[in-house]
Amino acid sequence: MAAMMQMQMLILISLSALFGRLSISTDTLSPGQPLHDGQTLVSAVGTFALGFFSPTGSKNRYVGIWYNKLPVQTVVWVANRGNPIAADANGTMELNSNGALILNNSQTVVWVASIAVLTNPVAQLLDNGNLVIREANSIEFAWQSFDYPTDTLLSGMKLGWDLRTGLNRNLTAWQNNDDPSPGRYTFSADINGSPQLTLLMDSAKIWRSGPWNGAQFSNTPQPSGLGLFSFANTKDEVYFIYDTIGTDIVGRLTVNHTGILQWFVWIKKANEWSITWYVPQTQCDSSFPCGPNAICDINSSPMCQCLQGFVPKSPANWALRNTTSGCVRRMALDCKNKTDGFLTITPAILPDTSTAIVDKTINFTQCKEKCLANCSCTGFASADIRGTGCIMWMKDLVGLGTASYEGGDFYVRLAAADIASPTPAKGLAKAKVTIITVLSGAALVILLISFFAWRKKKMNRRALAALEKGIKEDDEIELPQLQWSTLMEATDNFAETNILGKGGFGSVYKGKLAEGCEIAVKRLSKNSAQGIDEFKNEVILIAKLQHRSLVRLLGYCIQGDERILVYEYMPNGSLDAFLFDIVPNRVRVHLDWPTRFHIIIGIARGLLYLHQDSRLRIIHRDLKASNILLDSAMNPKISDFGLARIFGENETITKTRKVVGTHGYMAPEYALDGIFSVKSDVFSFGVLILEIISGQRNRVFISTPHLYLLGNAWSLWNEGNALDLMDPLISDPFPVAQVMRCINIGLLCVQGKPEDRPIMSSVVFMLGNDDASLAKPKAPGFKAILTGELESTPNHVELHSFNNFTFTEQIGR
Ligand SMILES: *[C@@H]1O[C@H](CO)[C@@H](O)[C@H](O)[C@H]1NC(C)=O
Ligand SMILES: *[C@@H]1O[C@H](CO)[C@@H](O)[C@H](O)[C@H]1NC(C)=O
Ligand SMILES: *[C@@H]1O[C@H](CO)[C@@H](O)[C@H](O)[C@H]1NC(C)=O
Ligand SMILES: *[C@@H]1O[C@H](CO)[C@@H](O)[C@H](O)[C@H]1NC(C)=O
Ligand SMILES: *[C@@H]1O[C@H](CO)[C@@H](O)[C@H](O)[C@H]1NC(C)=O
Ligand SMILES: *[C@@H]1O[C@H](CO)[C@@H](O)[C@H](O)[C@H]1NC(C)=O
Ligand SMILES: *[C@@H]1O[C@H](CO)[C@@H](O)[C@H](O)[C@H]1NC(C)=O
Ligand SMILES: *[C@@H]1O[C@H](CO)[C@@H](O)[C@H](O)[C@H]1NC(C)=O
Repeated sequence: MAAMMQMQMLILISLSALFGRLSISTDTLSPGQPLHDGQTLVSAVGTFALGFFSPTGSKNRYVGIWYNKLPVQTVVWVANRGNPIAADANGTMELNSNGALILNNSQTVVWVASIAVLTNPVAQLLDNGNLVIREANSIEFAWQSFDYPTDTLLSGMKLGWDLRTGLNRNLTAWQNNDDPSPGRYTFSADINGSPQLTLLMDSAKIWRSGPWNGAQFSNTPQPSGLGLFSFANTKDEVYFIYDTIGTDIVGRLTVNHTGILQWFVWIKKANEWSITWYVPQTQCDSSFPCGPNAICDINSSPMCQCLQGFVPKSPANWALRNTTSGCVRRMALDCKNKTDGFLTITPAILPDTSTAIVDKTINFTQCKEKCLANCSCTGFASADIRGTGCIMWMKDLVGLGTASYEGGDFYVRLAAADIASPTPAKGLAKAKVTIITVLSGAALVILLISFFAWRKKKMNRRALAALEKGIKEDDEIELPQLQWSTLMEATDNFAETNILGKGGFGSVYKGKLAEGCEIAVKRLSKNSAQGIDEFKNEVILIAKLQHRSLVRLLGYCIQGDERILVYEYMPNGSLDAFLFDIVPNRVRVHLDWPTRFHIIIGIARGLLYLHQDSRLRIIHRDLKASNILLDSAMNPKISDFGLARIFGENETITKTRKVVGTHGYMAPEYALDGIFSVKSDVFSFGVLILEIISGQRNRVFISTPHLYLLGNAWSLWNEGNALDLMDPLISDPFPVAQVMRCINIGLLCVQGKPEDRPIMSSVVFMLGNDDASLAKPKAPGFKAILTGELESTPNHVELHSFNNFTFTEQIGR
């Protein structure tokens, strides 16, 4: 952004250097007064200017309108957007005697604005940024640039239709920063059904505002403090308009060339544009990820759930989280006998209204009756928040969601029996695939066995209760068991060449399903440390977890003594490969600071989700660089839940006899005393931060504590040389304060005493807020024990310098 602005400033400077400020000291063009390249028209009080410009990175000349007083050239309208004038072609714009505004280069006409033949025409740039052509003695516009927007909507401009003339005013993004010709994204008013605003990519809807409900667009929280919004919906016109007149807000609504609709406000103090609102924001409001008759809830997992009374159309696809085919009714509607009823969804993101029917004259009660009386009606809502008017949906309900702000109420029509059935558990698993359709009988038996095995192991009673409740409530598990043959085929019979990685657990293979979908297949070694219990644990756990920072489990397979987990494929492999230069073409030098910081934040969010935000409280217990996978955009995803444990709601600490994990990442109280809590994960996270910053592994040599990374970081910190920890391969200038903050947070996380370490929500907060004040760290992990700062009762400890693999170690007690 800053770079872009600098470029724009450069252009501005070069423009003025080349041509001086040759503004025609007027806002008006009359016939016989051409505007040459290098000259500008300036509106009466100087708010806007019109003239020739070149976009960043291009020499082509365009005629555009921009803010005259801002130090950053921000073009809001372009005349010849698809028809540039060559750099040296001496463009001219002239109003002819008939009132046609003509832009030509030395050879040809490139653009014309003309509607009517006028007798005494003038063209004028108004102070709201509107270029108008009118009779000199009239205030009626024969033509106005506001009727032909490019990518920006200014205050007073109408977005939408004049139904009398068929004029459709929409915003179309630039092709890219160098080229203002029309790109793929359009923001327009969709007048089908109940009118709404839509953002389109080519012709596919990628966002919609929902219908206007009398006060705002129902699916769109109104950006606050941006003036007055209104929406006209008459037989003559359907348009959206906003008005900042009378305020000192300088704002604009722009579709950028990557398909984001953004509201910019000029911040005087900072001398820059600030984005105060944008869409699409979430997966739920972009496109229709859940398919028909499902409800999208960005805060629940899985995100897509069938509506009550509906089941997945394709259970197998649905279980693989391919939800595009949506859901179908469990029970047919009984329209004749009028026994159907309605289920209220509130606050709702209303379904797509482009096929809905509107009756503004009836009230809520009448709307409900009218819907019941028509066999095709699938749901309804009031057209106005005051309870008047009626929108009825006549087809599948597409794009229904749970609103995270004050949305409207939506009423889904259901057969009486489906209404009566209890509302499914909140949050997870409202939409599920029944165990019978997804799991074979054998898998069911195994699940039950594992369930009882847990019971036997006297797993914490609360956790058990949670799990028991979970199983009972859900009555299903939403994970498909895959055929052995499918996996054989996908991995070329587990060909060596498809191995992505190996570890103590077994091997991970790259696979390709018949449909072309890439997967990662984790084949557990038959005598691996990850026993059958861990396997089941992982399957059941991950099936319930969904977060963008957790790797997604797609399915599993049990065949004889083979145990297999199938994950989404992560093209960039694991973080340790990059960090510790394990794989030749993925090396540390590829990780610049922004990428490293992005990875740190992603891991922190994933861990926060595990600890606090998922329905289950989960301690990962084996967080390390090799368990962080990277997708194609280098987003980190936490993987390997084989050792994870569920915690009860009020439980905070658990003791285990069997210490599992990876040295170098294990908190001292866990490694020494088998005590684990969320704080032991925080310790591992701290080690990870320091590894990511330094590009060094945290090795554990208890005899020479100063040699390992934590000791080293601690010494440097105390000497005031913390920045020396920074990986020397990060060569670009980096934000020193941000790096220092990360080192500080890393050290806070690895402090010796668990109670001194921050919880993950604080970590996420501290990472994201430059102004958050950070505590001074105390001595880290094992160092604290050696210096007597941390009391422990090491009964029998033997610390190894193994780092690569997870291993299990019994600690005698
Ligand atoms: C543009 O104007 C310059 C200066 O008058 C002239 O030298 C040049 O030939 C013109 N270019 C064209 C394409 O007419
Ligand atoms: C371009 O516009 C100028 C000014 O109106 C005019 O003198 C010239 O003849 C035009 N050239 C062409 C090719 O239309
Ligand atoms: C946008 O407006 C242009 C010009 O009126 C029209 O050709 C185009 O079809 C419109 N696109 C949409 C998606 O409304
Ligand atoms: C488009 O807007 C989004 C959201 O503000 C931003 O992340 C992206 O960089 C923008 N793209 C361009 C090319 O400006
Ligand atoms: C999802 O399922 C549909 C069929 O319902 C199929 O056409 C599509 O390719 C699948 N998408 C993916 C990503 O597998
Ligand atoms: C309507 O009610 C009648 C009588 O109760 C019953 O026989 C019939 O099956 C019902 N129709 C439907 C579609 O439920
Ligand atoms: C709705 O309109 C009907 C007919 O005008 C009227 O009888 C009824 O009381 C109204 N209901 C409400 C809730 O206003
Ligand atoms: C149901 O509504 C549709 C759409 O308005 C209409 O075409 C159809 O005639 C209605 N059916 C009945 C039975 O009213």
